[in-house]
Amino acid sequence: MTKKALITGITGQDGAYLSEFLVKKGYKVFGAVRRTSSINTSRLSYLGILNDVEIVPMDLAEITNIQRLVEKIEPDEIYNLAAQSFVQTSYEQPIYTSDIDGIGVTRLLETIRNLGGKPKFYQASTSEMFGKAQESPQNEKTPFYPRSPYGIAKLYSHWMTINYREAWDMFACSGILFNHESPLRGTEFVTRKISQGMAQIALKKIEKINLGNLNAERDWGFAGDYVEAMWLMLQKDQPDDYVIATGETHSVREFVQLAANSIDIDIVWDNKGDHEIGICKKTGETIISVDKQYTRPSETDHLLGDASKAKKTLGWKPSINFKSLVNMMVEHDLKRMKDNNFWF
Ligand code: NAP
Ligand code: GDD
Repeated sequence: MTKKALITGITGQDGAYLSEFLVKKGYKVFGAVRRTSSINTSRLSYLGILNDVEIVPMDLAEITNIQRLVEKIEPDEIYNLAAQSFVQTSYEQPIYTSDIDGIGVTRLLETIRNLGGKPKFYQASTSEMFGKAQESPQNEKTPFYPRSPYGIAKLYSHWMTINYREAWDMFACSGILFNHESPLRGTEFVTRKISQGMAQIALKKIEKINLGNLNAERDWGFAGDYVEAMWLMLQKDQPDDYVIATGETHSVREFVQLAANSIDIDIVWDNKGDHEIGICKKTGETIISVDKQYTRPSETDHLLGDASKAKKTLGWKPSINFKSLVNMMVEHDLKRMKDNNFWF
C-alpha cells in the first residue's frame, strides 16, 4: 500500500528536499502550510515537485487544526520541520519562538497520543541545543547548554519527543541535525547571504557584504543528504535520537574565503574585531566588513558533530564536502542572477 507522509514546514529548505526524496520513494506526500497572504511554494516549484504533493492548511499554533488534519489524512509518518528557525529572530520574538518551536511540538505529540500512538513521528532537533558546547565533537551524550531562545525552545521539544516515546510508547525520533545548507537555503542565513552576496559582487550589483561574527565555527553539510537521515530514522525497528553532521568544522571567515575563490577573488584580511575587513587582493577593494547588527547577544561559538551512531546504525553518511557545498551555492546564485531568475 502507498505510504502517506505529512510534512510540516514543506515550504522551507528541508521540506522541499524531503518532499522530493519521499515522492521518489513512492510516498503520497501531504505538505502542511500555514496561512499567509502569499504562500511561498517556490522551492517546491524549483525542484519540479509542486504538482506531486498535496498542500494542506495547518498552523502549529492551532491544536484543533492539527487534530482535524492528522485525523483526516491518517499519515504513516509525520515529519515536523515547521519552526521559527532563525536564531537571530528568536532574541526579538522569544515568546512566539517558544510557542511554535516548543509548545507547537507538544500539540503534535498530543494529537498523535490521542490517536493511539500512530503515526511515526520525526522531530527536527538541532545542534543549537549544544550552544556553549561542553565538549568537542558533540554526540548524542554531550550535555546541552543552549545559548538562544531558539535553542532553548528546541531543547524543550527534544525532551518532549523523548518523553512521549518513553511514557506513551510512541515511535518518536529526534534528529539532532547540525547546520545544513543548499541553494534553497533562506537568504537570511549566513551561508546563503554570502553565496548570494558573492554572486552580486561578481556581477557588479553590490560592492561588499556586511557580516557579523566571522569567527563562529559550524559543521556545515548539504541539506539534500540530511533529509535522507530523517527518513532512515523512521524506518528502523526502534525509535531513537541521532546526531547528523559531517565531522568537520569551519569558520564563517573560511566560508567567505572559499566563496570568494569561487568567483576568482583572493581575500586578504585586515584589522581585528568589529573593524575587520576583507580586501580583494587584486583590486584592493573592500568586499567584506563587519557590522555589529549581525552579531548575537549570546553566541554559539563552535559546533562539530560526531555522527558515528548514525553511520553505524542507519548506514548514513554525507556525500558533499565543505568545498563542494560552497561552490555549489555560489554557482547556483550566479546562474540565477545571470538568468534573472529571482525566485525568492
Ligand atoms: P526553514 O527553511 O526556515 O523552513 C521553516 C518552515 O517552517 C517553513 O516552511 C515555514 O513556513 C514553516 N513554519 C514556520 N512557522 C510555522 C507555523 N507557525 N506553522 C506552520 N509552519 C510554520 O527551515 P529549514 O532550514 O528547512 O529547517 C527545517 C527544520 O529543521 C526547522 O525546524 C529547523 O529549526 C530545523 N533545523 C534546521 C537546521 C538547518 O541547518 N537547516 C539544523 C537543525 C535543525 P513559511 O514558508 O510560511 O514561513
Ligand atoms: N545569519 C547570519 N548573518 N549569521 C552570521 C552573520 C550574518 O551576517 N555573520 C556571522 N554570522 C554567524 C552567526 O553569528 C552564527 O554564529 C553563524 O554565522 C551561523 O548563523 P546562521 O547561518 O544564521 O545559522 P545558525 O547556526 O544560527 O542556525 C542555523 O543552524 C542551526 C543548527 O545549528 C539554523 O538553520 C537553525 O534553524 C539550526 O537549528
